This record gives sequence, C-alpha cells and structure tokens, in this order.
Amino acid sequence: MVENMRRVRTFGLLGTGVIGGGWAARALHFGIDVIAADVKPEMEDWIRGAVANAESALARLTSAPLPPKGTLTFTTDLGEMARRADFIQENIPEQLELKRRVLAEASRHAPAEVVIASSTSGLMPTDLQRDMQFPQRFLVAHPFNPVYLLPLVELVGGRDTSPRTLDAAQAFYTYIGMHPLRVRSEVPGHLTDRLQEALWREILHLVNDGVATTGELDDAIVYGPGLRWAAMGTNLIYHLAGGETGMRHMLRQFGPCLKWPWTRLEAPELTEQLIDRMVEGTQAQAAGRSIRELERLRDDYLVAIQQVLRQFDIGAGSTLRAVEERLYADSAASLQVAGEEAATAGQPLKTLETEVRPEWIDRNGRMAEGRCLQVFGDAADALFRLAGMNGVDRSAGGAFFAVESHVLHHAPAGALESIFVTTQVLGVDGNGVHLFHTLKRRSDGRVLATGEQHYEYASAAQGAAAPMHTAVRAKLDGIRAAHAKLRAPAQAGRHVVFPGK
Ligand SMILES: NC(=O)c1ccc[n+]([C@@H]2O[C@H](COP(=O)([O-])OP(=O)(O)OC[C@H]3O[C@@H](n4cnc5c(N)ncnc54)[C@H](O)[C@@H]3O)[C@@H](O)[C@H]2O)c1
Repeated sequence: MVENMRRVRTFGLLGTGVIGGGWAARALHFGIDVIAADVKPEMEDWIRGAVANAESALARLTSAPLPPKGTLTFTTDLGEMARRADFIQENIPEQLELKRRVLAEASRHAPAEVVIASSTSGLMPTDLQRDMQFPQRFLVAHPFNPVYLLPLVELVGGRDTSPRTLDAAQAFYTYIGMHPLRVRSEVPGHLTDRLQEALWREILHLVNDGVATTGELDDAIVYGPGLRWAAMGTNLIYHLAGGETGMRHMLRQFGPCLKWPWTRLEAPELTEQLIDRMVEGTQAQAAGRSIRELERLRDDYLVAIQQVLRQFDIGAGSTLRAVEERLYADSAASLQVAGEEAATAGQPLKTLETEVRPEWIDRNGRMAEGRCLQVFGDAADALFRLAGMNGVDRSAGGAFFAVESHVLHHAPAGALESIFVTTQVLGVDGNGVHLFHTLKRRSDGRVLATGEQHYEYASAAQGAAAPMHTAVRAKLDGIRAAHAKLRAPAQAGRHVVFPGK
C-alpha cells in the first residue's frame, strides 16, 4: 500500500442503493469489513438483501481460498461512518450540489490519510472535490453494475488529486478483484459512459424513427459485436477487420463512411411517444420475467463468461486469474510461519483452512466427492508454494501435476462447516512427490476424508517430467526428513478393496 495511505480493513459506503449494495457485496466477499451509511434507515434491510442476493453468483466465481467474509454494519450517521472507515466510497444520487455538500461533510470527519472516492457516472472530480478538506485524497472511481461481478473501475483524478491517492486506490481495487483503468484527464462521462452513450443515442434515434424495436437493436449487438467485445474492444476488432494490413486498410476502406455520416451526434427529444416505445419494447423483451429473475440470469452468465475468459488469460479473465493467484499466495503465506515450525518439529503441515461452500454440496446434502480432491489439490498447491514454487512463474520453472490420487471418505461435511487439511510428505525423488492429506472438521477435529497423491514435476517448455528446481527439492527433502519421524498413516498405500472379492 502506498506510503501514508491506510491499509483498508473497513470500507465506508456513503449511499447504499444499487451501487452501494454492489460495492458492499464485493468488499465483504474479499474479507473487508463494510460500514454503510444512508439517510434512510430502511436501506439497512435493502443492503443486507442486496448482499445476500449477490452471494450465490459471487460464490461461484472462483474456487480459490477466500479469507473469512467481512462483516457489514449499517448507520444513518455519516460522521460515524467517516470516522471508522479506512477508505470511503460515495454512491449517492448523481447531483453535483448534493454530492459536493455531502463529500465536504464526510471530509471533515475522515482523517486526512483516508481516501475518498466517488462512484459518479459522469461528474468531474475537480468539481466534486472543490469544498473538501484535504481534497488531494479524493478521486472518481466509477464502477459498473453489478459492481460485485464486473471488474472495471475507472479512476479519475481532479486538479487537486495527488498521484499517491490514485496509486492507493488502484492497489485497493485490485485487491478486491477489480481492473482499475486510469483515465488520463477528466472529461464528462469519463471513458466508458461516453462510449455507451454514443450507442444509446443512436438506439433512441432508430426507435424514434420507427426503424427498429428495442429488441431488434439488442439482437444487433447480442448475436454479433457483443460476443467479440467481451475480450477484444472495437479498436482491436477493427484492426482484424482490415485483413493483413490491419487498421490502416480498415481506415482506408471504411473511413469515408464517417463523412456521410451514418450516425447523429444530438440525441432525439425524449417525447412521450419515444418513452412509451422504449418502455413497451423492453417490457416485451422481459417477457414477464421480473427484474430479479433477469438479474439472476445476467449474474449467472457473467460468472460463466469470466471463467471461460480466464482460460484464454484475456480481458476480465486475466483479472480473475490475477486475483486467484493472490488468494492462493495469501492463503499459503498465512500458513507459512506455522508450516515452517511444523516442518522442523516433524508435524504434518496445515496446508489449507477454509469452509465448505454451499455450491460444493451435492443433492444428498453432503460435500461432493470431487470437492475433496479439489481441496487436496489446493492443499498440495500450498505445500509447493511453501517449498518455493510460485504459481505465476510456471513458464520459467514448470509445475507439479497430480498423476495419481486415492481418496477415502470417512464422514460427510455440511455446508458452511469450517474445515482444514494437514499434509504429510511420504516421499520425494528426482521429479516426484508422494503426499498424504487429512481433511478434518474444525469444530470437533473429526477426520472427514484422507487422500494419497503422487505429484510429478514437469517442465513448462517440454511438458514432460523433469527434475525439479534444486531449491524446491532441498526444501521438500527437509520436510520429508522431518516427517520421517511421524507414524506412517494407516490408510497409505491402499487401493479399492471391494468386500467379498
Ligand atoms: N446505477 C448504475 O448503473 C450506476 C453505475 C455506475 C455508477 N453509478 C453512480 O452511482 C451513484 C449512485 O447510483 P445508484 O444507482 O446506486 O443510486 P440509488 O438511487 O440506487 O442510491 C442512492 C442512495 O443514496 C442515498 N442517499 C441520498 N442522499 C444521501 C445522503 N445525503 N447521505 C447518504 N445517503 C444518501 C439514497 O437514500 C439511496 O439509497 C450515482 O452517482 C450514479 O451515477 C450508477
């Protein structure tokens, strides 16, 4: 974190509507406490409901080990929120005078090193920070709905914003899984809303002129450009459209159309007739589905798309990969000190602490078998990190791959139960490691499952088994030597024995 700016443990929200609720869900999910302030006391129920609604999609976004969820506190006292928060995000209605007044008030309560950001869709930071105390700690941080699933946040500094504020904000938003986009200079609407508005203006014209319905115009995006946009923006896509000579050819071929021009700059008048057409059109598209139902559908496909993009390490998929990498590293680091001590004392290493996520439960109400393997895989990953492997550095150093696994199920686990895994190193040779994991329930120490695994090290370049890095080998040998003092697990070396055969 940037010098003098606070480490963010408590995220303060000013205004808890659609956007405030989205921020709360995202921050809590990544283990940050939230104190939310709104003038209306009834917003407490609303924000708690919004956080609960976001949970099912968020929980499916990643299986990386998450820290314990943050806690949510609600207040109608802006001053209390501002005094307790380490970072404040304002999300009140889009009115310059109101925002200016409320931001100035918050700035009188919040210590100077607390960053204050505004979610404004289009107001300029210089205008917003005018009456604030310590305006250098203010910036615009414009998110997108649903804030808990879309990683983009546009960061815009005003005339008085210090570069350190932008750096601190960038670090915080990255920590909670976002993609901060630094906007070079303030312009009304920042970047994305200018692009969105250009498209929307044209939609309003086409509907107004009776050229197309709202549904047909959405089809014009959804079946074509929309699919491309999830990973490549208009510019890179047009570069491809120009063939071998790329953008230069594209501009030569389609550039002249810009003079005709196809589109208009002024929006049409919002007449009653146009408003009716827009409302009736979108109601027909909704086809009787409630806003909640449509939100759930949207959230589900947003999760699935990001998981697909992760495989290509592109766009929002790269952001997801990066935050997962950080989560695995944090989880391994939190076990590192205890792990070092246990290794030298000849104890099995505690390699994973987590809880049984609701989506791991099968239709019989128990943690599904495959999830045991997933948990053992994460435990092995933590062990390899402890031994010096860095998951991001695979291209340079190769990685460990499971070649054989055997799982014994002892007792079922239920949703939200706290569990942990200990790992014993049974053997190490030139390119292989023999591991034994024990999965236990935290509340009573009961063994839920055990797993025996053989991992092989393979070089990234050749993709074939290869000798592991000498430092990693030395560390694993050290743990193996300490673990040699332990009793060999009774279940080790088993295969499936079917009674009566
Ligand atoms: N809705 C979107 O898609 C979207 C996307 C990005 C950014 N934004 C921006 O986020 C901000 C909030 O938008 P929203 O859609 O969440 O609005 P909203 O109307 O849903 O929520 C605003 C909340 O602010 C509260 N409020 C009003 N005055 C207050 C005060 N003085 N102190 C504390 N709370 C106060 C209201 O009670 C309400 O709960 C706006 O600046 C908007 O431009 C909205």
